[in-house]
Amino acid sequence: MVAPHPLIHRPRRLRRTEALRRLVKETELTVNDLIYPVFVMEGDNIKQEIPSMPQCYRYSLDLLLKELQDVVNLGIQGIALFPLIADEKKDNQGTESYNPNGLVQRTVKAIKQAIPQLMVITDVALDPYSPYGHDGIVENGQILNDETVEVLVKMALSHAEAGADLVAPSDMMDGRIGAIRRALDAEGWINVGILAYSAKYASAYYGPFRDALASAPKFGDKQTYQMDIANSREAIKEIALDIKEGADLLMIKPALAYLDIIRRVRDYTHLPVVAYNVSGEYAMIKAAGQQGWIDEKKVILETLTSMKRAGADLILTYFAKEVALMLQP
Ligand code: PBG
Repeated sequence: MVAPHPLIHRPRRLRRTEALRRLVKETELTVNDLIYPVFVMEGDNIKQEIPSMPQCYRYSLDLLLKELQDVVNLGIQGIALFPLIADEKKDNQGTESYNPNGLVQRTVKAIKQAIPQLMVITDVALDPYSPYGHDGIVENGQILNDETVEVLVKMALSHAEAGADLVAPSDMMDGRIGAIRRALDAEGWINVGILAYSAKYASAYYGPFRDALASAPKFGDKQTYQMDIANSREAIKEIALDIKEGADLLMIKPALAYLDIIRRVRDYTHLPVVAYNVSGEYAMIKAAGQQGWIDEKKVILETLTSMKRAGADLILTYFAKEVALMLQP
């Protein structure tokens, strides 16, 4: 036997038993942290699997309502809604985006009627409505800023009228948070909040999502409005502007490759920080899981826990249902 080394600290003491490990756990993922992004499309009785996002579906409204009943029963508090818009309804001005009887508006109304307690977030950006797949109005190959903000304001107002709890501008146009806040307040929607996609990077991780909504850009990329993946200080610049303009919650997107940004934002602000575990992050884990190359369930929990540990209060994740099930006692 070796004589005990004279160590004052033995960190392993606190890892010795399950009870000790639980008592000193610093970060706990719970179902209250999860927001479930869902895809809706026109039609009846439709449930289509998205090829690059196994076990994620586009639903027609009738089946979506059933799905959301399950979601609520699992204890998930909120969803983020994304529409698949028919090609014939797309135009450069994104007119369909603020149609009071549009797909999103009808869907929000129906959800709020059927499941009023479920928190509904709507996406505010033109890409699903634009034949170009860009988040704003296109002119001579450029994405117009202020003209786009005018449309985003109309879109956000129509979502508020439909019953959205939070509107979530994901477009990265300058000044849109302030413009939307002023318009909501002027119309009496003082309690509709804004989840700002503040630090949204021009990322290749959005690929599967763009398949889901047939919304990939038809020319160029999104680098003139989404952030350079190499930048960190610039995230704080965007975050500071969105706080000044009236954002209630701040999002960093994607999440996994941007944990440093989540931490930096967490240290900068007292507002809730939201991480978007995006479609490409989902697809990578699913693909490796299907191959049997990783323990999928454990990797999911580890990945989402890393986002909370980095400082996220909330996580938008396509894994929400699976995780809610795993976390059930
Ligand atoms: C649209 C939008 C995108 C995502 C959410 N809202 C795609 C994009 O900006 O091109 C991506 C979500 C994901 O990949 O899961 N403005």
